[in-house]
Amino acid sequence: MISRILFLEGKPIVSEVNKIHIGSDVAQMFKNDHEHEKNTIVAYNEAIKLACEVKDFATREILEQILSDEDGHIDAIEEVCGSSPPNPTIANARRCTQIQRFFFLPI
Ligand SMILES: [Fe+2]
Repeated sequence: MISRILFLEGKPIVSEVNKIHIGSDVAQMFKNDHEHEKNTIVAYNEAIKLACEVKDFATREILEQILSDEDGHIDAIEEVCGSSPPNPTIANARRCTQIQRFFFLPI
């Protein structure tokens, strides 16, 4: 996306980031990430709509690819946590922790 902004002679702003909500346990991390992904999907859909309005179809295509990735992220969170939005119950927390161990800890 940055290369597209530069191509359009814009100035990408990477110094302003949204507040990060990590979470105190794995289940809360997934819940926060799910909320973030939802907001991201809304933002990309709005950007795609704007790209269509100004007839910038190349940018729209880039945004659609990113949106597709974001859809995959939210699907992965829902698959791991078993609900939409994830419910940080004890059972889900155990399940999330097991999955986190599988993916992130060395065997
Ligand atoms: Fe994402």
